[in-house]
Amino acid sequence: MKIVAGSSSPMLAKNIARLMNMELADVSIKRFPDGECYVKFNEKIEHAVVVQNTYPDENLVELFIIQDALKRMNAKVDIVIPYYGYGRQDKVFEEGEAISAEKMAKLIEMDANHVILINPHKEHILKFFDIEAEICDGVPAIAEYFKEKVDAVIAPDKGALHMAEKASSIIGCDYDHFEKTRISGSEVRMEVKNMDVEGKRILILDDIISTGGTMAKAVELLKKRGASKIYAACVHGLFIGNADERIIQAGCDGLVATDTIESSYSMVSVAEEVVKLLKS
Ligand code: R5P
Repeated sequence: MKIVAGSSSPMLAKNIARLMNMELADVSIKRFPDGECYVKFNEKIEHAVVVQNTYPDENLVELFIIQDALKRMNAKVDIVIPYYGYGRQDKVFEEGEAISAEKMAKLIEMDANHVILINPHKEHILKFFDIEAEICDGVPAIAEYFKEKVDAVIAPDKGALHMAEKASSIIGCDYDHFEKTRISGSEVRMEVKNMDVEGKRILILDDIISTGGTMAKAVELLKKRGASKIYAACVHGLFIGNADERIIQAGCDGLVATDTIESSYSMVSVAEEVVKLLKS
């Protein structure tokens, strides 16, 4: 078995290979001057574990081309998708829309035998795959990182409450979530549901940080309520535009993401959790 490092997650692929005591596949991945992707395996592969994001679109196309090259060698293909792009459009919210999360699954499964998704936006995305599909959870690794650093974990909304609950059980601390109340068409008020955060070291934990708006708002509020330290963490750090600056300027004492999307905030690796699934 060989680990195939797509362009999106070379460090994660390298760490997975190291922990599995395996080699990275010898593959050339290039871009033509017009941006189109070219893939060539320089060795015969019988079984591959491909590590590649489906975000942004160019990585998705690269994944398809890697898969095609592998299938032409009759290789068995496992795919680890660190960040499952298009996962947020997981149902028809309004008539006329696509279910992008399902469409991507249908395309990916055409040339794959097994897929591992790390914290997809919703668990039911797994059901869109007709091949073996599993979820890998990045929360334990984040929780380990924050052990003894925080007194409570708070989710920015109810959707992330299960993550806060899990992290708090590993850290051994309290958890809660923010409640959102719509004041007007454009104004939404956020408030911590039950917890008094004054003097406490708080970790705000979400699955995705995109524009940073949600996290910045949560940090601001905790600051107002007198939290002594405020950390912001996510599994998938997209950090669109100046998202990181927004969060830090709001008063965040530390910003942490995993290596599903590699950035200078990738202080935590999901590699061990991925390897546990690959070995099981
Ligand atoms: C929403 O459902 C997600 O869990 C995140 O809260 C959201 O994607 C964060 O987006 P942003 O960083 O743009 O506020």
